[in-house]
This record gives sequence, structure tokens and C-alpha cells, in this order.
Amino acid sequence: MGGIECINMKRYKGILLAGGSGSRLFPLTQITSKQLLPVYDKPMIYYPLATLMLFGISEILIISTPKDTPNIKKLLGDGSRLGIKLSYKAQRRPNGIAEAFILGADFIGSDNVCLILGDNIFYMANQMDDFHKIIQKNKGAVICGYHVPDPERYGIIELDEKDRTLSIEEKPQNPKSNIAITGLYFYTPDVIEKAKTLKPSSRRELEITDLNRKYLNENRLNVLRMCRGTAWLDAGTPDSLMEAAQFVQLIGKRQGLKISCVEEIALNRGFIDDMQFCRLISRYKDNSDYKKYLSKIMEEKKRHA
Ligand code: DAU
Repeated sequence: MGGIECINMKRYKGILLAGGSGSRLFPLTQITSKQLLPVYDKPMIYYPLATLMLFGISEILIISTPKDTPNIKKLLGDGSRLGIKLSYKAQRRPNGIAEAFILGADFIGSDNVCLILGDNIFYMANQMDDFHKIIQKNKGAVICGYHVPDPERYGIIELDEKDRTLSIEEKPQNPKSNIAITGLYFYTPDVIEKAKTLKPSSRRELEITDLNRKYLNENRLNVLRMCRGTAWLDAGTPDSLMEAAQFVQLIGKRQGLKISCVEEIALNRGFIDDMQFCRLISRYKDNSDYKKYLSKIMEEKKRHA
């Protein structure tokens, strides 16, 4: 993500949903979890983690399968090296995205919560202020709409001329619009009780779209339209995984700045100080470009101090 102003969103906790079978990426996902596959220079899970951190969220529950949770834990640990607090929960079966709020009930407690899907990559150029405004005012749910050419693949919102939501549908055969719902959602704490009342859909999942429809029926659903300058990539198929990697490579090379570098974000958001940052990168292998990039950040910071 780039060009983002720091915003204070301490009221929100984060849930990163990184389970599922990754069947659309078979055989890549035969042994490894989808969210641990590389997207150019880092594991896929770094990207949604970075998005939560950019929102200033530092208490995060990662939910994955019983098989994959230990590996994700091995990669990210308790988050202390990044100055954040990570906890983990296994989802026994892929019972649906909305199950995250039932599994995460104790973690959420009486706080607001932001859910992000582990295969969603966001690159937001100038929309942090819009997010800040809508999320701080949120009295229900905030979902994000993004114009796509292939709406049958996603949850879809139909809006009227004043951008008020008329309907939402999950992967409709005849989509009423081209506005997809991204895998980034913000809720008030009553999301737990609402999720508990959901019934499994015909594909036997607790659907996030059914949950959002409950907020719509109560007139408590807000939609943030993501602007044209924002990139939203869903890396869940071989093509989209490849395109995501190419996008990250291209922007990184052109700007000389990495997208979703969690160490850099931890430093910029004040989760860690300069000393902690230096200690952190001293543990990385000297010959990696990643370490060279991080070392350069610190050199530049010292030069401008
Ligand atoms: O990417 C945005 C789309 O994500 C939305 O537009 C749709 O409304 C929403 O249903 C979802 O659609 P997908 O078809 O992409 O969902 P998928 O089943 O692939 O799950 C998304 C991620 O969540 C994936 O990384 C796996 C994880 N997941 C999914 C389920 C159903 C879990 O961890 N547990 C689950 O039970």
C-alpha cells in the first residue's frame, strides 16, 4: 500500500481469515496453505496483515485450518517483533467466512472489529481519509465496493443514484451491477450475535453476504466505494496469483518502495522504535534484497533526522 496518512483506529481489533482449502490453486496448495504461497517477494499473508497494520490495528486474531495454523504461527509468531499482538484460532472446517465472528467471539469481546480475507491484497493510493471518516462514524457495518469486469465471481452490491444500497447478492448468475464487495469489512461488536443467528447456505456455509444483508435490513450498512486509483487483487486463482505478483513487482521496481512491507509499516506506525527495527532486521539473512531494503530505510531515516 502506498501514500497513506497515519490514522488512529485503536477502537478496532482485527481478524485475518486465512483458512479454506485453496482448491482453486491445486496442486500449489496440496502441501502449503494458500496464504503462505509467495506473492512476488513475500508470503501472501503479509499483504492483509499489512493492511490491518496500516489501519493502526495492532491486536489481531489469525484464523486458519488446524493443519496450517502451526505454520502460520511459525512464520509470524506472537507479533511482538513487529510490536503487535497476534493470536491464533483453528477453524475445523471451512464453514463460511461469517464463522470468523463466532470463533473470534471471546477475542472481539465488546470491541469493533475489522475482518480481512487472507487472499485479498489492497494497494490504496489516496483513500485513507475516506476510510477514517466512514469507519469512525460506523454504527453497524462498513463494506467496500470495487468496480470489476467479472461480477459473477464475487458478492455484488446494487446501488441507487445516491449510492444507497438496494441489494446485495453472493455470486449472482445475473449480477445487478459490476460493484464487487471486497474482502475487507468493519463491524460493531453486535456482529457476534448476528453471526450466531445465520443459517448455512445451499453450499453449507455461513455467508458473509447474509450477515451483511442483516445490517442492510436494519439500515445499518454503509458502503465505501473504492476509487479508481486503488488496486484490489484477490489472489485465489493461478491467474490472479500471477497478476498480483506482477503488480507488486512492477510498483515496487518503479517506485523503489515495497508494497505491504510489515517491518516498514511497524516502524512508520510507531509499533516499534528504531532500536527494535534494527534488532529485527539484524536477524535476517545478509544476502536478501528484503534485508537490503530494510537497511536502506533506516539509513535514510538517520540521514533525515
Ligand atoms: O474476495 C472477495 C469475495 O470473498 C467476496 O466478494 C465474496 O462476497 C465472499 O464470499 C468471498 O468470496 P470467495 O469465493 O473469494 O470466498 P472463498 O470461499 O474463496 O474464501 C475467501 C477466503 O476466506 C479464502 O482465503 C479462504 C478463507 N476462508 C473461506 C471460508 C469459506 C476461510 O478461512 N474459511 C472459510 O470457511
